[in-house]
Amino acid sequence: MDVNRLIKEKGYVDFKTPRGEKLISEIRKMRKDKNAIILAHYYERDEVQDIADFTGDSLALSQQAANTKADIIVFAGVHFMAETAKILSPEKKVLLPDMNASCSLADSCPADKFEKFVKDHPDRTVVSYVNTSAEVKALSDIICTSGNAVKIIQSLPEDEKIIFAPDKNLGNYIKSITGRDMLIWNGSCHVHREFSLEKIINLKKENPDAKIIAHPECEEPVRILADFIGSTSQLIEYTKKDNCKKYIIATEPGVIHQMRLNNPEKEYIPAPGHDSTCACSECEFMKMTTLPKIYNALKYEAPEIILDKEKIEKASGSIKRMMEISG
Ligand code: 13P
Ligand code: SF4
Repeated sequence: MDVNRLIKEKGYVDFKTPRGEKLISEIRKMRKDKNAIILAHYYERDEVQDIADFTGDSLALSQQAANTKADIIVFAGVHFMAETAKILSPEKKVLLPDMNASCSLADSCPADKFEKFVKDHPDRTVVSYVNTSAEVKALSDIICTSGNAVKIIQSLPEDEKIIFAPDKNLGNYIKSITGRDMLIWNGSCHVHREFSLEKIINLKKENPDAKIIAHPECEEPVRILADFIGSTSQLIEYTKKDNCKKYIIATEPGVIHQMRLNNPEKEYIPAPGHDSTCACSECEFMKMTTLPKIYNALKYEAPEIILDKEKIEKASGSIKRMMEISG
């Protein structure tokens, strides 16, 4: 079976790979020989984070993608992240080890519906979260991430009318901090929507010495309960510097890997979802990237993110505006 057919049928290349240490050393060798860099989001599997050249939140990963000297970027993350890397570094080959790695939040904002929404409100500046497709980015004036959203909104004149998309939870959180006139798209992430307030309250009763920390994509009742709210890297940084010894973590539990590496003596309890029969708080899209898929991506230089010049040009303006403000 050829590579292109496999990608068409499965979304990834699944030829046989070496195992264990050999798999890791082969990935390292190919990475060096091909001048490639592996970027991994904090929600990725532990072993994927460990092999990466750089782990980070969406903002830091975009900055790395924009500045890297590598010829190939292997993006261990989801589709919109790899697409953003390609928009920022169009001359580079950007590989997403599994093309099925989508994002429920990005999918909650289809470009055709969003275009109509934007046209219906021509007096508003469009600020979109990075968790969006290239088409939605092309309809936006400026992009933000959870790490810089407040800064981006505050950089706009105080009387500016804003459309914010697609995450209603992040949007309402920023609105409550900045007090700005924001019309918010009704999108959300299936992982962050699923946390059970009741179960978190019970967990807190059983662990009164624990602090609750949450991602701003969580629903309002969970955010109200939280001692600290931040992007994935801000949550990791918080547990590193704070002197509490126990945390209830209301975001995808992949972040706990870095928290444990920083402070192995502390206790990290993943916040429970409504459905105790499934691992709902795991983002199945982030967990699609595995070491064998990274090996095959590097070996066959596929699956590759392909975007035409016009799409890149249309989407890049809003991302570059964010980079100018955010640094
Ligand atoms: P961060 O930018 O905070 O890493 O968030 C990305 C994301 O997808 C959260 O669900
Ligand atoms: Fe998208 Fe939610 Fe997964 Fe983040 S956790 S990548 S917002 S589906």
